[in-house]
Amino acid sequence: MPEIKSIGILTSGGDAPGMNAAIRAVTRAAIFARWKVYGIHRGWEGLLHDEISEMTTEDVSNIIQRGGTILKTARSTEFMSPEGHRKAYDIIRSHSIDALIVIGGNGSLTGAQDLAREYDIPVIGIPGTIDNDLYGTDATIGYDTALNTIVECVDKIRDTATSHDRIFFVEVMGRDAGFLAQNSAIAAGAEAAIIPEDSTDIDQLAVFIKRGIRKSKNSSIVIVSEKDGGAMHYAERVRKEYPQFDVRVSILGHLQRGGKPSAYDRILASRMGMAAVEALQEGQRNVMIGIHNDKIINVPITKAVKMDKPIAQELINVLDTLSI
Ligand code: F6P
Repeated sequence: MPEIKSIGILTSGGDAPGMNAAIRAVTRAAIFARWKVYGIHRGWEGLLHDEISEMTTEDVSNIIQRGGTILKTARSTEFMSPEGHRKAYDIIRSHSIDALIVIGGNGSLTGAQDLAREYDIPVIGIPGTIDNDLYGTDATIGYDTALNTIVECVDKIRDTATSHDRIFFVEVMGRDAGFLAQNSAIAAGAEAAIIPEDSTDIDQLAVFIKRGIRKSKNSSIVIVSEKDGGAMHYAERVRKEYPQFDVRVSILGHLQRGGKPSAYDRILASRMGMAAVEALQEGQRNVMIGIHNDKIINVPITKAVKMDKPIAQELINVLDTLSI
């Protein structure tokens, strides 16, 4: 593999708290290795528009505590085509960038994998998404912060739900994954979680009602993952099928993506950012940095984006048993 002298770094897809800590770690570890670092603005979309500038250690000062991403982010359809990959590669080469470090979720890392497969450019992925849906890593950057944000919101909703004896359906993000829903339900002491991983098997609403949740409690909180109609869908069903209940909906939305990253996310991002630079130094390519049992690991990007990451049955049992 040719020697690396300069790298490009970008954040792509939905932003996640802790992305800035990862940008800082990559930039500083790479400068420590005497490489040049180019910040690519607005993800793959910005790359196609040549929005690239060199980064210094000072550029990443005072950002570890900030939510969002200083490099900005975007979702790009143009990049997804073979022509988009060609254009991206030409622009990368025109800056003499030898390797890319991509911070993002499933879509962003799939793009990275396609580019690396079609052109001779080493790519390292760092999992940055609040959804926690990437295979091969116990956690993704941003997930812990988003989980804590949700729990804080649900605690507040609980106060008004209790005062009014209401059922609240609280919708959380997660795209196709129920990690945020399941674990926020456990942490906030919710009565149930409705997650996409289960939706085809059973009617989770019927199960929740059948368990007679309202017999022993006057208010209930059900956390609903955003997929398949989300909270509105279930609230409408309760209004029709169980009109005796007073139902409200709260959709938390994009507030889940903002805010200061938790200490856990800052440390995770710092470790992963440094590990991404080390992976390139060791001659690795096309791997995603992951964490498993508190050890940093490398996972082939193909696996990380393709394989399903299941929710442990134990988490489902914990909620079911403790919410009686
Ligand atoms: O992938 C992160 C995420 O926040 C998902 O949970 C959600 O479905 C999606 O992004 C929302 O995307 P946008 O910000 O484009 O509306």
